[in-house]
Amino acid sequence: MNTVIEGFSKLTKEEKIDWLTKNFTKNPESSKKVLKQYWNTESKIQKLHDEFIENTITNYYLPFGIAPNFLINGRLYAIPMAIEESSVVAAASKAAKFWLEKGGFKAQVLGMEKIGQVHFIYKGNRQNLEKYFEYVKPKLISAAKPITQNMERRGGGISNIELKDKTEVLENYYQLHCTFQTLDAMGANFINSCLEEFAKVFKVEAHTFSLFPANEREIEVVMSILSNYVPDCLVRVEVNCPIDQLETEEFVTPYEFAKKMVQAVEIAKIEPYRAVTHNKGIMNGVDAVVLATGNDFRAVEAGVHAYAGKDGQYSGLTRAAIEKGIFKFWMEIPLALGTVGGLTNLHPLVRLSLEILQNPTAKELMQIVAVAGLAQNFAALRSLVTTGIQQGHMKMHLMNILNQMGATEEDKKVLAGYFKTRTVTHSTVKEALEQLRK
Ligand code: MEV
Repeated sequence: MNTVIEGFSKLTKEEKIDWLTKNFTKNPESSKKVLKQYWNTESKIQKLHDEFIENTITNYYLPFGIAPNFLINGRLYAIPMAIEESSVVAAASKAAKFWLEKGGFKAQVLGMEKIGQVHFIYKGNRQNLEKYFEYVKPKLISAAKPITQNMERRGGGISNIELKDKTEVLENYYQLHCTFQTLDAMGANFINSCLEEFAKVFKVEAHTFSLFPANEREIEVVMSILSNYVPDCLVRVEVNCPIDQLETEEFVTPYEFAKKMVQAVEIAKIEPYRAVTHNKGIMNGVDAVVLATGNDFRAVEAGVHAYAGKDGQYSGLTRAAIEKGIFKFWMEIPLALGTVGGLTNLHPLVRLSLEILQNPTAKELMQIVAVAGLAQNFAALRSLVTTGIQQGHMKMHLMNILNQMGATEEDKKVLAGYFKTRTVTHSTVKEALEQLRK
């Protein structure tokens, strides 16, 4: 019977598992076995994972793969990717190799500004509020000094605080719109701590501000929180080459291929249904590296999709052009990432990912992640406008189908060869496996 429980978080891990499997699974013993199969044999590592979140009962694995041969600004990278989708690492590796001999990827960080806001309601006179803001702004900045001084020593900190009047869209609603430089940290804790300090001082100082009439001294803080919309934490990545260097499938000439790529990009630019899938392909690359490097993929996803809709219509993020015989393919993408703090120092695999990436700064990681996104989009469009996506996808999916059907290693070897020249579907694989077993 499914039951309500009080004090679940206070149970031991074993007790939690017992309660859960007994109440929510058909076969508690085999469910327990599955959960425990994923425990790490090293108790120190398991404890680390147990403590990342509340109520941990096991670990959830994703494959951790490597896409080698990425040349980015003249430097070679092997990029770690954590992802379950079978074709992503293969596609990234293929795109990396394709561009390796053509000068590789050029990447440039255009800005690293992070944003946070104190949202508040003020019912008094707007001009008085503006005067109050000018008066209190230096006090806000100095009140946050204990939080900001380390960051300032390294060259970051609070860049600006502005008062924004939003009363035209929501009655009596204003913001302290704050910008920050958080260097190699993603900065969420830093920003939120600063904002909460601003909010406190902003509210308290208002009680004694002489220009406020006695009945207009109340500032009602609704909330203080960073924004995951970071249009000025932006990186630009590009590949280009003479059209005749675009080796393609036999049935399409390099020029036809380049033209189709441009068309595909233009369709994604103006057609939201296509744009969402186009950008999903970009995020296949982005998220996999974001995850492998212990960054917050939900924050990145939210920020990227908001950016894709910044002009009022959701649009594809990449651009392509043919100029004087040169094919150009590029993208600007907002990425708030960190290489210090958070999981980066804690999680052994994250630390290793960063080491594999030659211990990048946040700026360098932004470039690498954006490149993974551009490469992924290039690979997806390349298949879509030539062979179609299923050929590559299903080849990669073949192993999943065979595993599902309980194929042996020998079966897999034989059938991988057999399907080199045949179409993979669930039923063709089933049939071939049955034939082989006969
Ligand atoms: C699949 O995960 C991603 C694609 O659908 C992206 C695209 O259509 O551009 C192949």
